[in-house]
Amino acid sequence: MPGILPTVFTAFMDKFLVRGGKPLKGKIEIGGAKNSALPCLAATLLTPETVTLHNVPYVKDLITQRRLLEDLGATVLTPELRTHKVTARNVQIYEAPYELVKTMRASVLALGPLLARFGQAKVSLPGGCAIGTRPIDLHLKAFEQLGATVSLESGDVVARAPKGRLVGNNIEFEKVTVTGTENVMMAAALGSGKTVIKNAAQEPEIEDLAELLNKMGARIKGAGTPVIEIEGVEALGGAEHTIIPDRIETGTFMVAAAITHGELEIKSCRPEHIKAVINKLREAGVEIEELNQSTLHVRCGSGGLKAKDVTTEPHPDFPTDMQAQYMALMTQAEGESKVIETIFENRFMHASELIRMGADINISGNTAVVRGKTKLMGAPIIASDLRASASLVLAALCAEGETLIDRVYHIDRGYETIVRKFRSLGADIQRITESIAIAADESAK
Ligand code: UD1
Repeated sequence: MPGILPTVFTAFMDKFLVRGGKPLKGKIEIGGAKNSALPCLAATLLTPETVTLHNVPYVKDLITQRRLLEDLGATVLTPELRTHKVTARNVQIYEAPYELVKTMRASVLALGPLLARFGQAKVSLPGGCAIGTRPIDLHLKAFEQLGATVSLESGDVVARAPKGRLVGNNIEFEKVTVTGTENVMMAAALGSGKTVIKNAAQEPEIEDLAELLNKMGARIKGAGTPVIEIEGVEALGGAEHTIIPDRIETGTFMVAAAITHGELEIKSCRPEHIKAVINKLREAGVEIEELNQSTLHVRCGSGGLKAKDVTTEPHPDFPTDMQAQYMALMTQAEGESKVIETIFENRFMHASELIRMGADINISGNTAVVRGKTKLMGAPIIASDLRASASLVLAALCAEGETLIDRVYHIDRGYETIVRKFRSLGADIQRITESIAIAADESAK
């Protein structure tokens, strides 16, 4: 309407400007595992007592998870940046709203603890996301097997334990699910009787969560194997726990050393958690030495990189969260490699951006055929999801010229101070914050 000014607010769209071609050299410290800290923070809802978590990475997803806990009524203190002291004594709301679930699917991890402790939980049903449909049907079916009633009401999953407490049962997942296993483990920890989870996910993050739960008084055996046994207890108490190092951040820096023909000492990591990645990179010509139990020395071998096929599978095989970074590496390897993605149906969004930079990649179904070695050239590109953005940064670091990567808020979800870390290793990368004015009615679209 003429004469009336629209309401305007400012949005910040960060980009990375990378000038490639510099070999990365030096030492780098790995932070705590995002995918372990997320369920461990959710587990604090299981007790009215204080749970202290150390080595929580300072990344966007954890800030969101903290907000969720606070919205529910928990108190979260951070005496140090990476230490969270959570007391969920006065929880009065049992609900994870759509605003949070749509920005971070891991908010569904609140479902198990809320249902187990308070006998009720409401979590907005996550929609599709950039890497596929990602349903939570297996979580819900398992809750029903533990005696819960589950219904869908206006886009929310509403779960109730009719007798107030869940009841142990045998649960066999038809597909391996990481957060599904974690949700059920947390729920069953406070149930009555014994729960056995078969075909459980075996990721190190499951073991880490089980270790925390056992410190809180749970009785869980077999975490890290396909069969987990949980003897339910009546109440859980406070505990103190240090989150394991992030194996995907470790793998990403291993690829960074190799793709830039640099040499890195990667400290505070757990090589035994990423054996499949280490083995695959060695096959492809990367020299990896385990200096001790928490330090790796990585550099590109003198024979250069060789194309090697990879297939993503649940742990202990090659992780889907390293597929995009590995594909970037294969663009620099001699020969043809197949990258097969079996976990998520739409996780090749980075391929089209790599092609814009000069990569030779053909996608057919769940298989990407990468022909190398191709010279990558800087270009304006767009990040589509967390790990895709990591792969684009890696490609940009070895490309000739300037690459401008848009929508890097994805990488901020899971990589702590990534720009500072790469710069400390000699990379020419900077964050550019652009503010754009958006009319309120525009932003609603
Ligand atoms: C977790 C990780 C994510 C990783 C993924 C696979 C966290 C916070 N996220 O995600 O980084 O990429 O494991 O290693 O830990 N599925 C169903 N129904 C369900 C649950 C899953 O069909 O109820 C399917 C999914 O669509 C997918 C497969 O099972 O195809 C594995 O998914 P899942 O292991 O559950 O992934 P997340 O736990 O969401």
